Amino acid sequence: MEDTVKLNERIIVALDVDSREKAVQLARELAGSGCWLKLGLELYALSGLSLIDEFKKLGFNIFLDLKLHDIPTTVEKTLRVLVSSGVDMVNVHCSGGYEMMARAAEVCHRADKTIIGVTVLTSMGQQEIASLGVQGSTEQQVLKLGKLAQKASLDGVVASAQEAPILRQECGSEFLLVTPGIRPAWSEKNDQVRVLTPKKALESGSSYLVVGRPITMAENPREALNMLWD
Ligand code: C5P
Repeated sequence: MEDTVKLNERIIVALDVDSREKAVQLARELAGSGCWLKLGLELYALSGLSLIDEFKKLGFNIFLDLKLHDIPTTVEKTLRVLVSSGVDMVNVHCSGGYEMMARAAEVCHRADKTIIGVTVLTSMGQQEIASLGVQGSTEQQVLKLGKLAQKASLDGVVASAQEAPILRQECGSEFLLVTPGIRPAWSEKNDQVRVLTPKKALESGSSYLVVGRPITMAENPREALNMLWD
């Protein structure tokens, strides 16, 4: 049991639900399990920062996944507001550039918060990336942005677990790799294409695994969380 809690500390449950009530219900069911909660744009648009306090009281670590992408001053000022809430981890788009990331990192680290960067959205294929004028493969682009994020003092990046081994190799053992696209063998893939099981994702070098629907759509979310390791 203790081992499961330890493993669950590496799981970030994506609370992609369309109401505050559903989010609170899920959080109550998962409280005490050790996992993190991820609040994305939808839930933030619905309830702002107020849910964070409620989730902190239930003992969760919180990843606020707003993927900020703006000029350095705007990102810095926004983060100053966000880090004054109970969030533990926030993120920005690496394509916002070195200066923006460096200033974002400074604000977050001063407040003792973790900040990671989004490299390339996994919804984008090679062709779409090329249409933006990016040269080279997706993997090269992910690596380039990952290294830039590290140079700007970000704590890590979000990337697909497939890219985790190369990022781990190039960015070292301390760099956080937060990987979505996780599916245990017993679950539906939904719209995720390149998926890995939780165990395989950890083996590939992931630090934290983002898991949404296999848990949030389960009849018993708590049981589904614990079954990730079966
Ligand atoms: O339900 P599922 O496990 O597919 O949820 C994955 C979560 O990770 C969602 O919140 C999704 O937005 C997020 N995500 C992703 N792929 C990325 C970045 C984030 O699936 N590249």
